[in-house]
Amino acid sequence: MRNLIARLFRGRIASRDFSNRLTQMDYGRATSESIQDSVSNFKAEPYSEKTPYKQWIESEGIPIHSGYHMADVRTLSLGNWERLGTEGAHVVLEGAEGTDASYIFQMPVGGKTKPQRYLFEEVIYVLEGEGETTVWHDRGNKYSFRWNKGALFSPPLNVWREHANRGQVPARLISVTDLPIVMDLFHNARFIFNNDFVFTDRYNGQKDFFECGPHKIRKGGSAPGVTGAAKTRDSYECSLIPDARTLTLFDAPARGRKNRNAEIQLADNTLQCHVSEFPVGTYKRAHRHGPGSHVLVIGGRGYTLLWKDTPRFSDSRIQMRVDWSDGSMFVPPDHWFHQHFNSGADPARYMASTWIGGKYFAEGLGGGGRTHRLGTVSVHHGGNMIDYPDEDPAIRALYQEELKKFGIEIEMG
Ligand SMILES: [Fe+2]
Repeated sequence: MRNLIARLFRGRIASRDFSNRLTQMDYGRATSESIQDSVSNFKAEPYSEKTPYKQWIESEGIPIHSGYHMADVRTLSLGNWERLGTEGAHVVLEGAEGTDASYIFQMPVGGKTKPQRYLFEEVIYVLEGEGETTVWHDRGNKYSFRWNKGALFSPPLNVWREHANRGQVPARLISVTDLPIVMDLFHNARFIFNNDFVFTDRYNGQKDFFECGPHKIRKGGSAPGVTGAAKTRDSYECSLIPDARTLTLFDAPARGRKNRNAEIQLADNTLQCHVSEFPVGTYKRAHRHGPGSHVLVIGGRGYTLLWKDTPRFSDSRIQMRVDWSDGSMFVPPDHWFHQHFNSGADPARYMASTWIGGKYFAEGLGGGGRTHRLGTVSVHHGGNMIDYPDEDPAIRALYQEELKKFGIEIEMG
């Protein structure tokens, strides 16, 4: 019995299996439920000003980094994370507004995480190091794949996952998840972290599930609801991108001058992801959408202007500037206009992950939902994009001033 409870506590046995085993041992259902209640170390406080998600991350006992942006997620402090058996930290950015969030974990040389499974989706990016991830369903075959710095991957929903460092330096990874909405909806950690439902519709041990290549490019892969030029754009439908920093991108003129990007549908998720790059001396069009788009810079240097309420930057009472470089992360808040500028000597590249609306269209106000689809439609036509001729002249003036500091020519012609 003690071993059984220990396995339940560590999440190594599902609630249903635990109940069955107790029934076989002639214990009743009430006993089983009582034990399960007592081993669950988290209970959301009702009528609290803190969401169940905020209460849960506080119960995890590791640092919580919060604010509008992080200058460099590669240097954020970590703490010993009992649940994962490694060091980790939560990163909760204001602009996500309770929809999605991220966590960092770091494994020492030779280290690995404890096996985990859970009912929320995640997109993982390798900040440093190299290693291996193994995934499996209960009673299913294990499958392992290797990753290096720059890789982007997603273990499918609720599969067991175990990450291991196979390199000579600490391996640090960051994961964007939709746990905040999942935890706030169910406020039951045992349901989320110890649930034996198997999503075979998403992953059923397919041999090529974690392969990526031309055969995984979906032609005209945009989901329903996408309009205009983006409708015919190709996208990647795979679960492991070997290196997001060098991934071949596609022309995306609707997003900005000489902009290239790629939509990536990982692991049949609703959590969506894309990689975007814009050359030296260029900047993207301003647009706005719902909360949750985690922008993680993976190359180059620049800044982003964010403002509220009015398309004209100078007229906005709330303005924000985020200077960024490799490792910076920020989330544009709900319906704030935002515009990305490359002020460096190299192409600027970021990945963005958000909580809903990639492969599966959603009408909710998330970063990838209905409002995001209007990000390439001008504000003159009911959309959320400010075209270059409509932008506040102060935007271009500031950009030229910035480029002058570094002796870089503007390439917006
Ligand atoms: Fe955006």
